[in-house]
Amino acid sequence: MSNPSLLILPGDGIGPEVMAEVTKIIGWFGDKRGVAFDVSEDLVGGAAYDAHGAPLHDDTMARAQEVDAVLLGAVGGPKYDNLDFSVKPERGLLRLRKEMDLFANLRPAQCFDALADFSSLKRDVVAGLDIMIVRELTSGIYFGEPRGIIREGNERVGINTQRYTESEIARVARSAFELARKRSNRVCSMEKANVMESGVLWREVVTEVHQAEYSDVELSHMYADAGAMQLCRWPKQFDVIVTDNLFGDMLSDAAAMLTGSLGMLPSASLGAPMANGRPKALYEPVHGSAPDIAGQGKANPIACILSFAMALRYSFDMGEDAARVEKAVEQVLADGLRTADLLGEEGVTPVSTSEMGDAILAALDASL
Ligand code: IPM
Ligand code: MG
Repeated sequence: MSNPSLLILPGDGIGPEVMAEVTKIIGWFGDKRGVAFDVSEDLVGGAAYDAHGAPLHDDTMARAQEVDAVLLGAVGGPKYDNLDFSVKPERGLLRLRKEMDLFANLRPAQCFDALADFSSLKRDVVAGLDIMIVRELTSGIYFGEPRGIIREGNERVGINTQRYTESEIARVARSAFELARKRSNRVCSMEKANVMESGVLWREVVTEVHQAEYSDVELSHMYADAGAMQLCRWPKQFDVIVTDNLFGDMLSDAAAMLTGSLGMLPSASLGAPMANGRPKALYEPVHGSAPDIAGQGKANPIACILSFAMALRYSFDMGEDAARVEKAVEQVLADGLRTADLLGEEGVTPVSTSEMGDAILAALDASL
């Protein structure tokens, strides 16, 4: 059997720095665990725009379709703010999601014990938190037509369209129910059925899928605004949250901050199984390109490293090794190591991006 293949797209801002640490971990698996990955690297986002005039080259897109998994750093930066919409760095990422049909975006929000005091919420509200947001990623208002800025009389009108088909709702609902069965068996579905027809349909289809296939899972529904409030009030009431593309974007940023820092949160974007049985997959940290700290060695590589752990679990069926990486991260945090996003405790000097990566490698060594 050939080695599992990875396409690495570091992207912009802190993307390359955090990805460099992931590359070390990938190398560790080859050296110490006998799992050699075939790694190729390419450009995405602003970096691709600078080289090719487009945020994703067609060859890169084709390569992404061939590999077992894509690892992405981050895209975007102020340098590209005034570009035409069609070539903005973010379009590169959206194209990958759309053309790979990565409809289920898994965003776990887990609070590491050592970091419970970093949350803006009280320790007892977040300590031990372990929830999973499943965000629909290939449809909804991000992609709906019509869209654009048009002229109506003597003023301009901005238009985007929220649109969901039954099958788009059903497949992401199934992903959420399947995950719940492996966790605490509870799903909360969030929409705005009180004001949006797409929300009414969302609620109906989730309920139908539940009744027909997953009645063993506990299902509840919440309006997304109330869900946002409940996430801040008592997040531990949730197990799996399933929601649409835009609400999922917002709710997952909020959930990420519950855990102390956006620098900690990984994600997996999964599609249908490929011929080899593995799902189409892209893994990326939830945080963005953080241009304000890029190139300074300040970024926290943990979200990106935990994204690779998700790849081990969801693409390569290496759940034990995924847990090994997660435990190594937990260990360095318990030892008091902090990157600059995690400061505030007395007498702590921050470690650099690469020092954090090296410490995680050392903890991995110790796990053997
Ligand atoms: C995310 C990001 C993206 C999104 C951007 C970079 C296009 O915010 O993955 O949450 O809006 O989906
Ligand atoms: Mg976002």
